[in-house]
Amino acid sequence: MKLPNRLLQVVVGGIVVIGTGIYVTNDLASAASENIKIPKLSPVAGWGKVAYDKSCASCHGKNGTGTKTGPPLIHNIYNPGHHDDGSFFRAAKNGVPQHHWPFGDMPPRPELTNGQISAIVKYIRELQQANGIVYKKHVM
Ligand code: HEC
Repeated sequence: MKLPNRLLQVVVGGIVVIGTGIYVTNDLASAASENIKIPKLSPVAGWGKVAYDKSCASCHGKNGTGTKTGPPLIHNIYNPGHHDDGSFFRAAKNGVPQHHWPFGDMPPRPELTNGQISAIVKYIRELQQANGIVYKKHVM
């Protein structure tokens, strides 16, 4: 009974490929979603928003909802379990080579102080939380 086994492998393989395709398409479709909840920000997050609007919003969009040149940060893949606060510091200091999205590389933002970056993180985390994006352990 070799043939049915092989057939099963092909069918299951096909389903996995199609499934992955749908997942990726969905991800990109949600990339420019502007329908997010804006919470009342803490003072530090409000300060972070000022720095964010100057240094990050041109690509990551108003309120972190993404643009044609950068992904939304109010997105499940940026939950603290997958991209911890350190990843924001590394992104601002060193830039980010393209790896999750088709937007190209992120250039470093050397104009920001550590205090500003940590306020930006607070701002993004408060937006994420208001939209149900919370810590999820990253498994890979
Ligand atoms: C010129 C456009 C641009 C600007 C400005 C920009 N980013 Fe990005 N950023 C990107 C792109 C594109 C990616 C996605 C790279 C990928 O995963 O393919 C990204 C990814 C990230 C990531 C994920 C890092 C990782 O480890 O995957 C974080 C965090 C981030 N940006 C934060 C910021 C912050 C904070 C600012 C402002 C200080 C900022 N970005 C400004 C384009 C930009």
